[in-house]
Amino acid sequence: MCGIVGYVGFREAYPIIIKGLKRLEYRGYDSSGIALLDNGSIKLSKTKGKVVDLENRAKDEISLNGTLGIGHTRWATHGEPNDVNSHPHISNSGDLVIIHNGIIENYAPLKKELINRGYTFVSDTDTEVLINLIEDVKKNDGLKLGKAVRVALTQVVGAYAIAVFDKNKPNEIVAARMGSPLAIGVGEDDKEFFIASDASPFIEYTNNAIYLEDEEIAVIRKGKKIKIRKISDDSIVDPYIQELQLNLEQIEKDGYDHFMLKEIFEQPNAITDTYRGRMLVNEGIIRMAGIDDNLERFLNADRIIIVACGTSWHAGLVAEYVFEELSRIPVEVEYASEFRYRNPIITEKDVVIAISQSGETADTRAAIQLAKSKGAFVFGVCNVVGSTIARESDAGAYTHAGPEIGVASTKAFTTQITVLTLIALKLAKAKGAISNSDYHMHLRELELIPEKVKECLTLDNHIKEIAVVYKDMPNFLYLGRGFNFPVALEGALKLKEISYIHAEGYPAAEMKHGPIALIDEQMPVVIIATKKGHYDKVVSNIQEIKSRKGKIIAIVNNGDVSVREIADYVIEVPETLELLSPLLTTIPLQLLSYHIAVMRECNVDQPRNLAKSVTVE
Ligand code: F6R
Repeated sequence: MCGIVGYVGFREAYPIIIKGLKRLEYRGYDSSGIALLDNGSIKLSKTKGKVVDLENRAKDEISLNGTLGIGHTRWATHGEPNDVNSHPHISNSGDLVIIHNGIIENYAPLKKELINRGYTFVSDTDTEVLINLIEDVKKNDGLKLGKAVRVALTQVVGAYAIAVFDKNKPNEIVAARMGSPLAIGVGEDDKEFFIASDASPFIEYTNNAIYLEDEEIAVIRKGKKIKIRKISDDSIVDPYIQELQLNLEQIEKDGYDHFMLKEIFEQPNAITDTYRGRMLVNEGIIRMAGIDDNLERFLNADRIIIVACGTSWHAGLVAEYVFEELSRIPVEVEYASEFRYRNPIITEKDVVIAISQSGETADTRAAIQLAKSKGAFVFGVCNVVGSTIARESDAGAYTHAGPEIGVASTKAFTTQITVLTLIALKLAKAKGAISNSDYHMHLRELELIPEKVKECLTLDNHIKEIAVVYKDMPNFLYLGRGFNFPVALEGALKLKEISYIHAEGYPAAEMKHGPIALIDEQMPVVIIATKKGHYDKVVSNIQEIKSRKGKIIAIVNNGDVSVREIADYVIEVPETLELLSPLLTTIPLQLLSYHIAVMRECNVDQPRNLAKSVTVE
């Protein structure tokens, strides 16, 4: 995690870096810092807290001039979040400066060795070890900065995206990547360059970007062509400059109070964007190149294994139900973090689907690598275009949700379900597992989903009223059955991550095997009771809760009568096919969490201890 930004060129670096750090705060926000090169001297300011705290401090502490600079927003790994552990870090000589996203796993023996050689350390970070290692290599071997960074990195085990400069080189930044993302924005005629964890900090300056691959190091000099080499063998790599499609509006709040709310309200469009050009309803065609080109692999698969983390794992669970229902291919869903370490049985006849919004999640990446090493075919479902998982998969499909900036996933979840449903339908058709009429009916219903999501969004005020009533409850239970069981898990995750209220998701029928003991008048139970999802059974579950004085908030279909009589509150969503219902039932749960969190004055977009992109184990 952590966000890094760098600039070298002809403009003032400070405003570019501060603005860039604000855009990257979703990656970590416990401390931040900036270093500018001003007439041969390093101006450093860093602080515990957010980028606004840095801004307040920097203006009193340093001159803000300089056309070269680097900045960092941190999600602590080594060393608590405090001023000293914040980045950038400076080498013992005071010449070299670094920012780092990642973890140097062998920092302890490296630090010991450097201490033996007389180096001293002021922070607890692995990053300060790295900058002194670079300095040591540079001094001992008489190397230029780029070479010294490369040689030092050959001694390092771990993950990193780094940017380093030397105060004696006013126009040069060295950047390198292993395991953590790093984009380089290339200005017109090479007059300026930007470095960042993703392209958002530089999108208003240039659309041309190079995404460094793992094991690559770039020497970036104002007015010169970028030079990229392989870290391991120093071989030259041709820079591949791509044109980005991203635009500024997509990464701004657009009048909403929070990114999360904006992203919840974007879902009708996001879902449409996911199936646009792929699902041709009148023709009865689903076009997805990643599937079309590899159809035999899918059709001959013994099973599909889905690997993912967090919300993406919940989308995977929905997909398990959808795939098995429609295409009759056995599916297993695994936490990527468990899968990678538990010696799973994987064969060449397995298809592994990796789901990841960011496309950078370390555990999901490791699960992919394991699956590939056993010969399985890996298909990535990612949102971020050009992300590592998208590139490392054998084939894939993007969700096309647009940038998701709020740390809590919302539109990523519904678009992941949409894309996975398209795949399941396509495979069902190709296998002959679905009748023609059913297939067409599913396409027609899926096409109606964005309008129905819009209808769910009109419930916002009603949900706010419910939030007022329950916002101070210490615990919540979320229940659902079948396709809506993963939605219950997702609802509970949303509430706990942004409002810090303890919440559990359960399959409704499991309640009587334990959680029912928790029910009393202090326990709100959010239960999904849509018509087509084992309705009568769920109604019985609601009765069981009611007779134990639990408070019931039920998600029902429009016009429901039975549940309304028993529940404390009902939230009515439109009817759809049972397997598409998660796309609707999840919306009120997102809004409920959002409003409760706002009322509790929590930082909705940047909840404590979290980061958007989990690039460490
Ligand atoms: C929850 C959330 C996380 C992510 C998880 C995986 O709202 O955002 O649980 O879903 O960290 O992230 P990706 O999908 O980027 O691999």
